Amino acid sequence: MKLWENGNGVGVHEKVEEFTAGEDIRLDQQLVEWDAIGSMAHASMLNKIGIITHSELMDLKKALVDVVNLQEKGKFRIELKDEDVHTKIENYLTETLGNVGKKIHTGRSRNDQVMVDLRLYTKEKLLKIEKNLLTLCKEMARFADLHKDVPMPGYTHFQKAMPSSVGLWAMAYVESFLDDLKMLKTAYSINDQNPLGSAAGYGVPLDLDRDLTTKLLGFGSLQNNVLYVQNSRGKIESIVLSALMQIMLDLGKLSNDVILYSTDEFGFFKIGERFRTGSSIMPKKRNPDILELVRGKVNIITSSLNQVIGTIKTLPSGYQRDLQETKEPLIKSLGVTNNSLEMVVLAVRDISVSRERLIQSFSSGIFATDEAFKLVSQGIPFRDAYKHVDYNFQKYKKESPEEIIKKRKYKGTTGDLGILNIKKKIDREMAGSKAREREFKNVITKLMKA
Ligand code: ARG
Repeated sequence: MKLWENGNGVGVHEKVEEFTAGEDIRLDQQLVEWDAIGSMAHASMLNKIGIITHSELMDLKKALVDVVNLQEKGKFRIELKDEDVHTKIENYLTETLGNVGKKIHTGRSRNDQVMVDLRLYTKEKLLKIEKNLLTLCKEMARFADLHKDVPMPGYTHFQKAMPSSVGLWAMAYVESFLDDLKMLKTAYSINDQNPLGSAAGYGVPLDLDRDLTTKLLGFGSLQNNVLYVQNSRGKIESIVLSALMQIMLDLGKLSNDVILYSTDEFGFFKIGERFRTGSSIMPKKRNPDILELVRGKVNIITSSLNQVIGTIKTLPSGYQRDLQETKEPLIKSLGVTNNSLEMVVLAVRDISVSRERLIQSFSSGIFATDEAFKLVSQGIPFRDAYKHVDYNFQKYKKESPEEIIKKRKYKGTTGDLGILNIKKKIDREMAGSKAREREFKNVITKLMKA
């Protein structure tokens, strides 16, 4: 039974349930654990301010732990008549505990409840994404270190341009991912605010202790203004999605590079056998489907972000049901980003490099700029040196690609990629990320136990 049904016999039109809740309950099924956990903290707070007794709190906690266990076993199914996860859990509490169940919703609304669920859900997923992103940084840095002396043509306009190295190419991604990490951590901390106590957006005439629920749920801070809490639904989702988008854009670009460099025509890299799939018609054919799918999935994130922004951009202050439409793009994008990261980590571990093909591909034009700089070092103005090399290029003999990449020695170039320092930074970030994950797990375990 829905929480707002008044029993006057006039039910909603038969199509209304499916339209308002059909898709949403499938998403809510993933929020069961978090809704129960949010309710545990809320019940503890209600006990502290004298709304429920200690023994009522204990009963509620036990029943809520049961909900988590039932969900884990796949035995807590939200049905259309339940409307949403919040109703399903409240009904369960009332069915199993009677009157106490009816007290759980004191001082809250489904509007702040759904936000608690989504913030906690997002927090857990962002921690996983952070870990996988750092694992990828580590893998790419290892790959770069291993191949830092392997020459590679550097391209501009899709044309061979200047001497580069596999190390330079790989470390470019590491540095890019580390910038993505900054955005991810910012999104994490903005998401890490406690919305509980906002109720429908205007508070309640009870002395709720919001600092207590902030602490119990392990939120980094309290989201203060009760109306802003509601106004931030969709906004915070869009911040999270922007961070995910940066990661996915990088993964797409990396995939694109690897796909290209591992074609027969380039032959620089080889994707591991276990990460290529075959054709139903062409025997012997192997394709880079995994990386193509990663590249294709970038669009899921960009369109999800678009969907969220489109939903919120013209809404007035306060809760509107449109906001429900921000749930799916968020949940989907968190999953897609995490899965893509996991796959790219595996694929990158299994890429081999052909030094021979890379060296062979150094056509004479690649050396031209370096020849001009040799003249510059003899005191010739750059423009004259440029012209001289341009007119006399046939006379120059090809240099060793391996030697030429050592000649760029200043920070950020092939001769000084700063791999060691960057590796240390990755380790520091890993340690910080693990500590935050541990802290979050501890808070939840403590809440479930007490
Ligand atoms: N499923 C709803 C959502 O995600 C829950 C909140 C419902 N609130 C309401 N006032 N109808 O937004």
